[in-house]
Amino acid sequence: MWAKPENTKYVGGPRDHESVRASVIRDAAANDDKLRLWPVLARDSGRLVGTCGFVEKNVDGTPEVELVYFLDYTFWGLGYATEIGLALLKEAGAARGLRRVIALIDPENLASERVAEKLGMNFERETVRPNGKRMRLFAVRIPAVPPDS
Ligand SMILES: CC(C)(COP(=O)(O)OP(=O)(O)OC[C@H]1O[C@@H](n2cnc3c(N)ncnc32)[C@H](O)[C@@H]1OP(=O)(O)O)[C@@H](O)C(=O)NCCC(=O)NCCS
Repeated sequence: MWAKPENTKYVGGPRDHESVRASVIRDAAANDDKLRLWPVLARDSGRLVGTCGFVEKNVDGTPEVELVYFLDYTFWGLGYATEIGLALLKEAGAARGLRRVIALIDPENLASERVAEKLGMNFERETVRPNGKRMRLFAVRIPAVPPDS
């Protein structure tokens, strides 16, 4: 999926086999199970359709946690990214101790922007990434979890 131009147009372009393999191994071996990427499987077929999760990002000197949703293009338009995002944000506070989650979105990636909106994320500002790419920063505050819940 990471090698296909359709899937990666707004997320840095196609990756080569070795770099994808290395990052999958790194994720599988990660001790921190709170901030990482997981596979997305279709419930009916069990097929691998994408990946999702949380990654740490430094944005203009500030540590942030980014929500990631990435699907193979043959599974776009089915509401999967919204379903994934809602599920992840629901347990971001209690299970992962997060108080704020962001999304960095290519200005041309209108589908991703729409997903962020559907997840209740708000546009905050534009930022320029270290590679020179301009991105739109969306964010949502995660409510504090009461201690006895
Ligand atoms: C962005 C992405 C995750 C969306 O996944 P998805 O499962 O198709 O998303 P959903 O079906 O939940 O919602 C998509 C929404 O965007 C809308 N949309 C799709 N293409 C659009 C476009 N070109 N312009 C405006 N809105 C668009 C859909 O109509 C839908 O909104 P609606 O429910 O109000 O009709 C998917 O395209 C993807 O994986 N892209 C490659 C990786 C990527 O870019 N990830 C995000 C990085 S920030």
